[in-house]
Amino acid sequence: MRALSGIQPSGELHIGNYFGALKQFIALQDQHEGYYFVANYHALTTTRDAAVMREQTLHVAKAFLALGLDPQRSILFLQSDIPEVTELTWLLSSVTPMGLLERCHAYKEKVAQGVSADTGLFIYPVLMAADILIYDSDVVPVGQDQKQHVEVTRDMAAKFNHTYGEVFKLPEPYILRDVATVPGTDGGKMSKSYGNTIDIFVDEQTTRKQVMGVVTDSTPVEAPKDPDNCNIFNIFRLFAPEDELEATRELYLKGGAAYGEMKKRTVDLINEHFAAARERYAELSANPDEVREILRDGAARARVAAKATLQRAREACGMI
Ligand code: ADP
Ligand code: TRP
Repeated sequence: MRALSGIQPSGELHIGNYFGALKQFIALQDQHEGYYFVANYHALTTTRDAAVMREQTLHVAKAFLALGLDPQRSILFLQSDIPEVTELTWLLSSVTPMGLLERCHAYKEKVAQGVSADTGLFIYPVLMAADILIYDSDVVPVGQDQKQHVEVTRDMAAKFNHTYGEVFKLPEPYILRDVATVPGTDGGKMSKSYGNTIDIFVDEQTTRKQVMGVVTDSTPVEAPKDPDNCNIFNIFRLFAPEDELEATRELYLKGGAAYGEMKKRTVDLINEHFAAARERYAELSANPDEVREILRDGAARARVAAKATLQRAREACGMI
């Protein structure tokens, strides 16, 4: 079974990206052949500064490696190193109804947030479908917000297959229900666009500052509280050991949970959780050539699969 997913290099990675994406990817490498890439072509829809693009591309690649992606077992590469994917985007777009793309909520949301309504943003799901289909992916681990794009990918693959014969394998989205959406410091969905993140690769003081900024209500310490409706509890629960989580949940229900203490404990848990990854990240930052070599090797391996699928698709639609 082949698992594939990509992350856009569009800013500092946060714990929403970790639980919703990176952690699942890395866990999947034990049972799957993993294909993971930095979606830098997709990021062109929002990032227009070349220096920032280069820096953020390396940030995502280093994050994958620091968090445990093993380049011996899994393939790590840059989307832009596989030119076949843009060619397949064209073949797919030729059979993709406008209406299918018009229904995608990510486009509407991004435009509402002020992202320029360019053609690339509109056909973003076609490029994403090409990413998925070109490697014959079986499962696509993504956060809840990307589920529709995987469904749309299946529609495009089915339409192409129906038109030209069986060329593409239909992929399945893979979503961890439990942590489907990680809340941000303001209680809304954590996202770099909302400025409510707790970042992974920052120093301990920055983690402290971000966690201390989690919004809580003014219920007194002694009063019973609903843990599931508490922003700090909902972040704490992602990192707390099972027994501590149960004990804290009881304290909320009985009364006696103090938000200040909860925040301090959460800071420590987060710093402990990412200590080794942060160290590895610093090592990789000091050795950019090592990162580039891994990406070059990954691209060479990924291209073998990409070329074979593109060839099938070209032949199916009569390109000679
Ligand atoms: P952001 O919303 O910060 O811009 P992206 O859209 O780049 O994040 O998401 C990258 C990956 O992380 C996607 O697979 C997405 O589903 C996942 N993800 C992003 N935010 C969250 C969140 N708050 N909870 C769970 N998963 C998330
Ligand atoms: N659109 C995804 C996101 O913003 C990134 C992505 C691009 C992706 N291509 C993909 C995810 C293919 C899974 C499979 O998170």
